[in-house]
Amino acid sequence: MPKGKVLITGGAGYIGAHTAVALFEAGYEPLVLDNFSNTLPSAIDAIRQLTFDGLKVYETDCCDYQALEEVYLNEKPVGVIHFAAFKAVGESVRLPLKYYKNNLMSLANVLELSVKHSIKNLVFSSSCTVYGQPEHLPVHEGSPILPAESPYGNTKQIGEEMVRDAVQSGAPLAAISLRYFNPVGAHPSSKLGELPLGTPNNLVPFITQTVAGWRDQLTVFGDDYPTPDGTCIRDYIHVCDLAEAHVAAIKTLEKAEDSYSGVDYINIGTGRGHSVLEVIHAFEDTTGHKLNYQIGPRRPGDVTAVFADTTKSKKALGWSPKYSMEEALVHAWNWQKTLKK
Ligand code: UD1
Repeated sequence: MPKGKVLITGGAGYIGAHTAVALFEAGYEPLVLDNFSNTLPSAIDAIRQLTFDGLKVYETDCCDYQALEEVYLNEKPVGVIHFAAFKAVGESVRLPLKYYKNNLMSLANVLELSVKHSIKNLVFSSSCTVYGQPEHLPVHEGSPILPAESPYGNTKQIGEEMVRDAVQSGAPLAAISLRYFNPVGAHPSSKLGELPLGTPNNLVPFITQTVAGWRDQLTVFGDDYPTPDGTCIRDYIHVCDLAEAHVAAIKTLEKAEDSYSGVDYINIGTGRGHSVLEVIHAFEDTTGHKLNYQIGPRRPGDVTAVFADTTKSKKALGWSPKYSMEEALVHAWNWQKTLKK
């Protein structure tokens, strides 16, 4: 007996596609919605291979209220997972209004249509960026929310507030904002993975593309931070574990039904911090490939160290990650090897 449909906005993107597969494996019918502005149609073939041929795909922009409403009218999902957003930090500094318009308009439409069509369960894709440079580590959900470092980060903070206000307005809506740490890795089948269009901003795709010969050299952004080896520390979470956290969030919202009508914030990380040099050395050790890297200046806006307190994710979602960082790096490399330049 299928558990119901789940609408995934941004469902053809890196995290969305892995979540579609995880939902299918958990017995839900994923509905993929994407405007394909930052992903390739080949992602759909891969999701279909890992799920079923009849997977429904809507080529729709969440900023287009009428087109989005058509989807709500056609389908009666039990929940919505809202990923669709722009996510390049540097670009958001150059083109802030592009980010505010897209990320906030699409969320406003999703919230309004979910209320209008009585779709109660909503999972919002947030980020540990809301904690800025934390004073105390690990960060827990009650840690202070500091002023955002970029317009992108600000759209996540405002997004959390929009979700909270919509829920608290008395609308029949229950929501969980998942605050992701650093998603890495790829599906173990190597059919799905991260496919940044153009030069990657993030560490792991830059490592794999450099080893594959697509890039000459990786620059480590600063080795003079107050950390044991001088490089920044992050909490790297396997994308399949992250996908499972979304399944757990949907189940939690469904189960809570009448007893929970509120809004919650949950960190999704491993609880362990690794420095940039640790990631590089783990990659070299597990794959046997040497990485050409140099130490460069700090990247503006980088925080020194951040990793998650995972107490709440275990308790509220009954979820914990299964993969190690080493496994994530091997999966990322196996995925890279399937790609053509
Ligand atoms: C970044 C965003 C974060 C966003 C996330 C989405 C910033 C400041 N933060 O996280 O808000 O939610 O992406 O994916 O951009 N590094 C190098 N060399 C590189 C690339 C990265 O040394 O070529 C280092 C960075 O300095 C950092 C670590 O690797 O210490 C991870 O960087 P990255 O993968 O870009 O993620 P974040 O910056 O943590």
